[in-house]
Amino acid sequence: MYRSHTCGELRISNVNQEVTLSGWVQRSRKMGGMTFIDIRDRFGITQLVFNENLDAALCEQANHLGREYVIQVTGIVNERFSKNKNIPTGDIEIIVSALHILNTSLTPPFTIEDNTDGGDDIRMKYRYLDLRRNIVRKNLELRHKMTIEVRKYLDSKGFIEVETPILVGSTPEGARDFVVPSRMNPGQFYALPQSPQTLKQLLMVSGFDRYFQIAKCFRDEDLRADRQPEFTQIDCEMSFVEQDDVINLFEGMTKYLFKTIRGVELAEPFQRMPWSEAMKYYGSDKPDLRFDMKFVELMDILKGHGFSVFDSATYIGGICAEGAAHYTRKQIDALTDFVKRPQIGAKGLVYARVEADGHVKSSVDKFYTQDVLQELKAAFNAKPGDLILILSGEDTMKTRKQLCELRLEVANQLGLRDKDKFALLWVVDFPMFEWSEEEGRLMAMHHPFTHPKDEDIPLLDTNPEAVRADAYDMVCNGIEVGGGSIRIHDAKLQEKMFEILGFTPERAQEQFGFLMNAFKYGAPPHGGLAYGLDRWVSIFAGLDSIRDCIAFPKNNSGRDVMLDAPSCLETKQLEELKLIVKE
Ligand code: AMO
Repeated sequence: MYRSHTCGELRISNVNQEVTLSGWVQRSRKMGGMTFIDIRDRFGITQLVFNENLDAALCEQANHLGREYVIQVTGIVNERFSKNKNIPTGDIEIIVSALHILNTSLTPPFTIEDNTDGGDDIRMKYRYLDLRRNIVRKNLELRHKMTIEVRKYLDSKGFIEVETPILVGSTPEGARDFVVPSRMNPGQFYALPQSPQTLKQLLMVSGFDRYFQIAKCFRDEDLRADRQPEFTQIDCEMSFVEQDDVINLFEGMTKYLFKTIRGVELAEPFQRMPWSEAMKYYGSDKPDLRFDMKFVELMDILKGHGFSVFDSATYIGGICAEGAAHYTRKQIDALTDFVKRPQIGAKGLVYARVEADGHVKSSVDKFYTQDVLQELKAAFNAKPGDLILILSGEDTMKTRKQLCELRLEVANQLGLRDKDKFALLWVVDFPMFEWSEEEGRLMAMHHPFTHPKDEDIPLLDTNPEAVRADAYDMVCNGIEVGGGSIRIHDAKLQEKMFEILGFTPERAQEQFGFLMNAFKYGAPPHGGLAYGLDRWVSIFAGLDSIRDCIAFPKNNSGRDVMLDAPSCLETKQLEELKLIVKE
């Protein structure tokens, strides 16, 4: 028997019991004739005591234990003289009578403590050691708890979990595919699924009615803090539903998760914001509503007063940062530099301060009378002590996105993005299509299987860009945590959709024939949604990056530095696959 208890289990009620524990040496201290060792496992830490006066040889052995050695000890539970209130086992210690070294350890390349001295790269390389740290391990425990609760909830609502294949066919829509060569079909490739979208729709055709899957998805796209090339969706689909049915069910699940995982009761129901409103007031389809700072359009007030930057603009908009009039010249210059960064691309920033006496002082005072500046103040309902920040540009959408970045940056600086506060909403009424400069054609904003709003179907022929979709995203704290739609279940409408997206009938049949054919065999009306599990866990854990809630994540270049993947294939393997690698 390796152990009678875990290292997090013993309490004052166990005093005088003989116990056996197994675990890792966290740290050791020698004080006079006593050696104290903290033994650690996933469940906690227990203090071991070796007394030179009781057993000198044993104490000598303990003095030679290195960090991260794996040991087994037997001893008697003793009440501690100086208790440690910070840990659940802090009332007791073990007076050790026997010690076995189960395995030795090299000195770890970084300290296995909550505040480690290891940088990102080294911790990724030795991820198995990083995962021994409480704060990293806790994220995986939370992830486990979330998937358990998700399964419980969906099971209770009549969903069944079905696994769909990982080796599927490549599809041209969406992000880039990761592809896998087929040895048995030389020159042909599978693709890894970007999501189980079409397969879950086929399950609806099969009559499964309510499906879900904790599904691995793969996308070859540029990485960010909330994006990994390999991530996990809570993927769901339902038959005989309209948008409200899907939204209500998953709002229920979200509330259930907040309550069971975080102990937070969310107010009912979540706000629903049309996409056009989100773009107009927040410059983003995933607005962070933990704070206000809604955009105000200022063309009427500020254009035509001789300030050429504004006079030539097609959009002028601003935000009001409450109580930020104390911003110094240096801080405003830094904000100006921020919006001028190439990733953001604004040309400059105009500010107006509301002073204690209500007077407005701006960086463009020479062009505007105090009367006009008072109008500006009124437009924001600004008070003394507030700071108005204004951007303008020739492209409305671009300028709104720049203003969105500024809004988030100012909120960061003012500490308004509190991780323990949650602001959830549904963004609805997305446009069906968006124009892609890169492709020179319309692309589906969600995906080509999304149902257009019934009332907008006539516009498909005349003005497709005005067509809105039965699509919805769930947003939490400025992060898109889920997205879905009501789907097309009519083969003819699906064909039309592919035509608008620039597919010839032959290509549409070649790529998506399986789905359109299935629709001819009695496809029920259906719709669904997928949550990003990694994003949810990172929000619940208050993490800055989803990497920290993934056991073995990729780095920013898409590499697994521990496994050293991706890597080159051996010539023999390439030959078998009939592949030649071009230099
Ligand atoms: P979508 O592409 O919006 O929809 O993805 C659904 C959710 O998955 C998460 N997500 C990601 N998480 C981490 N890394 C990534 N690279 C990544 N990409 C997406 C997001 C997102 O909201 N088949 C549709 C769903 C549907 O219509 O039912 C789909 O995949 O949280």
